[in-house]
Amino acid sequence: MTIQAKSESRPMTEEADFLQIKSIDHIHFYVGNAKQAMYYWWKAFGFKPVAYSGLETGNREFASYVLESGTARFVVSAPYAPSHQIAAHHMVHGDGVKVIAMEVDDVEKAWQATTSRGGKSAWAPREEKDDHGIYRTSAIYTYGETQHVFVDRGDYKGVFAPTYRPIKDKEAQSTGLAAVDHVVGNVQFGKMDHWVNFYHQVMGFRQLMHFDDKDISTEYSALMSKVMQNGNGRVKFPINEPAEGRRKSQIEEYLDYYLTPGAQHIAIITGDILKTVEQLRRNGVEFQRVPDTYYDALPDRVGSIKENMKDIHELGILVDRDDEGYLLQIFTKPIQDRPTMFVEIIQRHGSQGFGVGNFKALFESIEADQEKRGNL
Ligand code: FE2
Repeated sequence: MTIQAKSESRPMTEEADFLQIKSIDHIHFYVGNAKQAMYYWWKAFGFKPVAYSGLETGNREFASYVLESGTARFVVSAPYAPSHQIAAHHMVHGDGVKVIAMEVDDVEKAWQATTSRGGKSAWAPREEKDDHGIYRTSAIYTYGETQHVFVDRGDYKGVFAPTYRPIKDKEAQSTGLAAVDHVVGNVQFGKMDHWVNFYHQVMGFRQLMHFDDKDISTEYSALMSKVMQNGNGRVKFPINEPAEGRRKSQIEEYLDYYLTPGAQHIAIITGDILKTVEQLRRNGVEFQRVPDTYYDALPDRVGSIKENMKDIHELGILVDRDDEGYLLQIFTKPIQDRPTMFVEIIQRHGSQGFGVGNFKALFESIEADQEKRGNL
């Protein structure tokens, strides 16, 4: 078996980085029940509910909660009426990520730059105003029905956006989740390079690395992956496509249930994965579990690490090493009824990789669940 992870990072000139994205501003989930989704991120993942929009705040169309943990900001929204576009989205996809929003200085410039390079507009630059200032956005489509919203908060001092009011009575017990590390998209067979080109040409991203796992594709639910990264390196979007194999790829299972390409997983950084995962488990979060034999070979594979191997094993955490250092990671089971989106918890000790050395063990664990669902 050979799995190659090739690093292809090159320094980027300011001109090539025409979008000048500062960071991921928020990730917006369209769900069936925003109140309960809020409760899940709050009580299971330790996000703090900070803002609400809904009937009580003058929003007659949808209920929406904003939650934060470190710099990670998630928004969950559900419609009040079947005619609303959130209802249509939810009917097709179930709960899922609609928007991956990025903060920029100039939403007009971002929209012009991307749409003139072939990006499909979701909405032209617009301003929403209230007593707290002007909230400026523009948006384009990426894979499937997913959108990238450009956000400029420079002249907005309110909580999140107009119609949202602060939530003051909900304290959270943080699990140590600090920031979004990367967001992975699943696209159809043969479409990975199309979307790699989209991120390069339309958004000025560069390819950071690729995973070519054709040697395991005949035996395991395989995938191909390329990682795109923006100019300042804060935004990383790996793109997966299914690879041909003897069994149904986990990416195909996703596409069968999400019905279009979409966000497969969000990786969230922690500074102490042992503490984070211990607490998440206590809160009821369910994780993929690799076989115990994984841990027999681990010391030889990754060498010495700071963390206690026994704790790593007990919690089911995975470890991978490359020339830059190592990383620890773990993946949840799907977080909604459909076997679509899941969450990754990751801690980096130098390594800027994605855990390619864990793919085989991880795929086997996912496959076992696919089999239980009758989808292998
Ligand atoms: Fe990941």
